[in-house]
Amino acid sequence: MAETYTSNLHIEKASSSRLQDVNFKDLAFGVTFTDHMFMCDFVDGQWQQPKIVPYGPMPMEPSARVFHYGQAVFEGMKAYKDEQGDVFLFRPEENFKRINKSCARLAMPEFPEDYFFEGLNTLLNLDKDWIQSGVGNSLYVRPFAIATEPIISAAPSETYRFMIICSPVSPYYKGKVKVVIAEHFSRSADGGVGFAKAAGNYAAQFYPTKLAQQKGFQQVIWTDSSTHSYLEEAGTMNVFFRINDTLITAPTSDRILDGVTRKSVIQLAKDNNINVEVRPIKVQEIVDAANNGSLKEIFGSGTAAVISEISAFEYQDKIYELDDLGTTGYAAKMKKEMLHIQHNLAEDKHNWRYPVK
Ligand code: COI
Repeated sequence: MAETYTSNLHIEKASSSRLQDVNFKDLAFGVTFTDHMFMCDFVDGQWQQPKIVPYGPMPMEPSARVFHYGQAVFEGMKAYKDEQGDVFLFRPEENFKRINKSCARLAMPEFPEDYFFEGLNTLLNLDKDWIQSGVGNSLYVRPFAIATEPIISAAPSETYRFMIICSPVSPYYKGKVKVVIAEHFSRSADGGVGFAKAAGNYAAQFYPTKLAQQKGFQQVIWTDSSTHSYLEEAGTMNVFFRINDTLITAPTSDRILDGVTRKSVIQLAKDNNINVEVRPIKVQEIVDAANNGSLKEIFGSGTAAVISEISAFEYQDKIYELDDLGTTGYAAKMKKEMLHIQHNLAEDKHNWRYPVK
């Protein structure tokens, strides 16, 4: 757990808001940013005074280690507004714990919990007019940390910057998603950084994902790097398979991200008396299930993606299409329940909602 610091958050407000320029009916994911951002520098072995300042460019040395060695980690969270105007986050303690796990793996200093939550609450209060109420609307919150030391020898930085920026968003995937099952490229390997939200995990996916997109698919489902015979995750989402009435997802490991939405889906499924199996899944098992009609659904789960239905997958040059179950599928049910909890429209029996203070 990170050391405790007594914060002395400094706030510099933006002189005017850009809010009136935003068309909330036509938002592309992650393009528009709110008026303020949080930042805190690590210098001389300590986190310095945290600050909230107007969102904008920041000077950095071209030699900053982040540009050369990718020493960078991030998180994704969402803030929601209910009809009364109250703002909530969803299980932010999980994101806080995970960014510090990611930091530890990338040899970066952990960020103090009280700085994180004070910064987050203050930032969301300052920029709360950017959050639209209504299911489907949210403010994507992106905490991240980067190595800032201007030295290009290949070693961990002595200085870092921790930041939080916020972006009003609509759903990440518009409509259903088609995926390619990886047969050659890998996202992660045993002993690697696959479990961490390391920036480089995403960069490594871009080229194979681009190849998939050129064939008309949106994403890749990654398989284990040694045999390519076990299904793992989709990079921006963890993945669930429904065979008959059983929901199956891969266990987390040092190759797979321990998704907050993933663990919430597992809990919601159990609450609904749906049989859930967390176990290794062979690609062949899913291909066989698709061939014999027992594969009913595949869906991804993630903060940005929420729950996204997968309508088809490609494996060994063959495309397998899934039936559209509409509102009767497990994906639709889980998505509705999750969104209703997040938007304060349903009972929150696991205490997942975090009221922004
Ligand atoms: C998230 O769901 O927050 C993610 O990390 C996906 C992101 C890379 C768009």
